[in-house]
Amino acid sequence: MGVKTLTKQEWNPTQYQSIGAFVPKLGEPLIALLAPTPEMRILDLGCGDGTLTQVLAVSGASVFGVDASPAMVQSAKEKGLTAQVLDAHHMAFSQEFDAVFSNAALHWMTEDPQKVLHNIASALKPKGVFVAEMGGEGNIAAIREAIQKALASYGLDIEQISPKFFPSVKRYQTMLEQSGFEVIQIETFPRPTPLPNGIRAWIETFATGILEALPQSEREAFLQAAETYAKPKLLTGDGWFADYIRLRFKAVKRS
Ligand code: BEZ
Repeated sequence: MGVKTLTKQEWNPTQYQSIGAFVPKLGEPLIALLAPTPEMRILDLGCGDGTLTQVLAVSGASVFGVDASPAMVQSAKEKGLTAQVLDAHHMAFSQEFDAVFSNAALHWMTEDPQKVLHNIASALKPKGVFVAEMGGEGNIAAIREAIQKALASYGLDIEQISPKFFPSVKRYQTMLEQSGFEVIQIETFPRPTPLPNGIRAWIETFATGILEALPQSEREAFLQAAETYAKPKLLTGDGWFADYIRLRFKAVKRS
């Protein structure tokens, strides 16, 4: 099989709301870290289907969601939210927001993460707040190792077809500072996450870009192989777990 190049992953909002419901649920502590108020205008970067955008809006704040996935933005709009299809690499807001909020999205923005931070800083008013959580160094390493082993028989490389950006605290703190932020708090922590529907459902929901790189006829065998390779590390007496590691921070734009 020829070398596949990176394409944008398709998202299925219905499947995401069922299998991926834990993503916004476990992102709720971030809302408390931001402490939204009715006076705030907030940019929700990578808003997905708008579940957390809606929680932010309950505070009375004016919230604008952006996401690179048209299907997800459509789903957010169906909830009555204001949202737009936009890739953060091409965002050109200028001092419009009091806060930028982002949950489980920044690691998808791999083309130029420093540029993404620069665009976020530009979108904020002076002293604007940036609160986010993303995958940290080592995030889902066991899942990616199992997927890579299963992809090897097709001559495919996960780093090529589905790169992710999972930085360390030190690296991301430096990047935030280089984009003009003062880091108020930053931490990383493991968050083993139960997968009641198993690892296959996780791959089918979160790694559609990898499945799309394979011919339809090979997908079932690939999923079986990935599940087999994942078992020793991720199937416990209490069921399947995903080896998430989060990087959470709060930063303020300097001026
Ligand atoms: C994450 O939230 O860490 C994540 C989800 C799906 C794919 C990669 C990372």
